[in-house]
Amino acid sequence: MKPITLTSLRHMKQAGEKIASLTAYDYSFSSLLDRAGVDFVMVGDSLGMVVQGHDTTLPVSLSDMIYHSRCVARGVARALIVVDMPFMSYQVSPPQAFENAGRLLQEGGAQVVKLEGGAPMVETVRFFTERGVPVCAHLGLTPQSVHQLGGYRAQGRDATSAERIRQDAHALQDAGASLVVLEAVPAALAQTITRELAIPTIGIGSGPDCDGQVLVLHDMLGVYPRPSPKFSKNFMAGQPSIDDAIKAYVAAVKQGRFPGPEHSIV
Ligand code: KIV
Repeated sequence: MKPITLTSLRHMKQAGEKIASLTAYDYSFSSLLDRAGVDFVMVGDSLGMVVQGHDTTLPVSLSDMIYHSRCVARGVARALIVVDMPFMSYQVSPPQAFENAGRLLQEGGAQVVKLEGGAPMVETVRFFTERGVPVCAHLGLTPQSVHQLGGYRAQGRDATSAERIRQDAHALQDAGASLVVLEAVPAALAQTITRELAIPTIGIGSGPDCDGQVLVLHDMLGVYPRPSPKFSKNFMAGQPSIDDAIKAYVAAVKQGRFPGPEHSIV
């Protein structure tokens, strides 16, 4: 089967075909996801919480991300591999960020790197993309800023912050970002951004109109022992196996059945 590229994802947006993504942190799960038809595998720094048991993603190191990315890459033949840049690996300066992104590509097998933040990240995104490193941006609830946000809360609920997120999305696209994750923003805002941008939007808790969806694997399998976000859904319920749960998720995203209103911020 032909490998998925950023061009394939852009064509899927243009054709109105939904993009399905899940996180993975190891070889066995990434190979299951790949065979179940997930379009891109995200090696999220959520591993700090669901694999390492921390309260936040902040303690995750670059070496952790390289290690898990390398494990994931061994299991993937078709899906695109998007890897999170962890906290403090990209905020200091564009050259510092670029060196670390280079390690994720060279040592971790990343094909796209993801970083959190709006306007302050524009220069870094431009620095990366002018030098051939593709970027997935991440707006809305940005977990690395949990302390500044005052908790894991929905973002963009008032007109001013909604407009800031919308403008940030445009600025990141103009700087060369290839994808943008919209986490926990109102469905109507995600719909507007999705309509306005040429690059695919990937929603998590942000309604059904994004070009694609992503969930944290441990949330959608119901194995995370702490409470999962309300916008997540346990796809293991009623399924005989993990493989079936992952296939049910992919089918629900592709057919526009997930997320429903109960899994979207309004
Ligand atoms: O860290 C992560 O897993 C993520 C996504 C789920 C968007 O950033």
